[in-house]
Amino acid sequence: MIKLSYRYANSALIGELNGLNIEEEFNSYRDSIKEIITDLNQRKDKPGQWLQWMNLGYSEETVWYVKEFASMVRGRFENVLVLGIGGSALGGIAVTEALLKPYWNLLTKEQRDNYPRIFFLDNIDPDSMVGILQILDLKKTLVNVITKSGSTAETMSQYMIIKDLMEKELGDDYRKNIVVTTDQRVGVLRQLADQEVYKTFVIPDDVGGRFSVFSAVGLLPFALVGLDIDKIMSGIKDMDLALKNTDIYENIAAQGALINYLMDTKLGKNISVMMPYSSRLKYVSDWYVQLWAESLGKEYNKAGERVNIGPTPVKALGATDQHSQIQLYNEGPNNKLITFIRVEKFDNELEIPKIFEYTGIGYLGGKTINNLINAEADSTRVALADYSRPTITITIDRVDEYNVAQLLYMLEVQTAIAGELYNIDTFNQPGVEQAKNYTYALMGRAGYEDSAQNLRTKMIAV
Ligand code: PA5
Repeated sequence: MIKLSYRYANSALIGELNGLNIEEEFNSYRDSIKEIITDLNQRKDKPGQWLQWMNLGYSEETVWYVKEFASMVRGRFENVLVLGIGGSALGGIAVTEALLKPYWNLLTKEQRDNYPRIFFLDNIDPDSMVGILQILDLKKTLVNVITKSGSTAETMSQYMIIKDLMEKELGDDYRKNIVVTTDQRVGVLRQLADQEVYKTFVIPDDVGGRFSVFSAVGLLPFALVGLDIDKIMSGIKDMDLALKNTDIYENIAAQGALINYLMDTKLGKNISVMMPYSSRLKYVSDWYVQLWAESLGKEYNKAGERVNIGPTPVKALGATDQHSQIQLYNEGPNNKLITFIRVEKFDNELEIPKIFEYTGIGYLGGKTINNLINAEADSTRVALADYSRPTITITIDRVDEYNVAQLLYMLEVQTAIAGELYNIDTFNQPGVEQAKNYTYALMGRAGYEDSAQNLRTKMIAV
């Protein structure tokens, strides 16, 4: 099981101005946390609560269908190209970057055990789109279009471009190269997929984009590139069981949520930095940033009062960002809580040769890169504490299917509990709608004429 240590967030270590009396806080929030966890588990099966993501670890049927499809197309495609954005892409990117062999797409077919390369197109930059289309042979590419709403402009425009190209190249057979992951009933893509008779996978009701990584949104691409999705499911289930414990002293998601919440609301640490010491976990931070930002950044609380709250999530990578951001974190404004992720065992051990013995770098010889990266994590944490900067540390045993699934699921539950502490709706995102509507208006979508009019009066040249 993954672990969480909060000793470096404790006032006993970093002082009362910047640290929390954790035991006192745990005791005073013990009952509220118990209520929150009980309530989340009671509400999770009720329609409209957006808590179905808490059941994804038990969705044997999805696993079965995903595996069946993956084995059916095994060996047929050189590439998987995922079209999606936000919650429809970030989880897939985070998990494949963590779990596939590093530099996967540069490996030979044999090194990839005949599994395809995987590309995520999660933006609409025309240059990078043309770039990727120049690399991929569409005949040998399986395109997985992922969108919950089935109408997101970025994803749908990518789909339209690629479908058109594929049809020109493959004739009617292009349908065999497209698989769609979307809502069961609603959305433009659902209608099109049914008309075109594409193979489809369902994003279940009440699973929002940023909580969808363990639905077919993630599981399908993971299975296509050979990740062990049974181990992923075991990781989620074991973590889910552990997080059903309503005692804050036993529940790491509740601990993380409460510490983050109090650091923000009591001590003004309204920046939440996620800093894994592992390149393979680099994109877990991107995923976390979206999860935390869209879930907790809200204008109104559940009582309808204007609160404009939410900690700002920031991504960092150890040890790389020690040479970029740590100066600011140590000496700049003391307004951050940094979460380190520390990996106990890396897949490889790399010894630094005993050369240059009588020079200033001789001390490195005979040690391992593994020693060095964890020594840097430990020393940075202590240095931050010397400057009275609070940190918490999540330790994962190794970067594998079981542990990465645990990590992501734990962070999802942590976010849900934090949302309850802030007393906001964790699962909506009204703040992204305005810009979306303006885009529709600018692009001439029917029904958005008023928005277009409104926009024209406000827009000034830049
Ligand atoms: O978390 C969310 O709900 C969003 O980030 C969505 O995933 C994102 O906007 C993409 O939406 P869709 O999956 O409907 O294309």
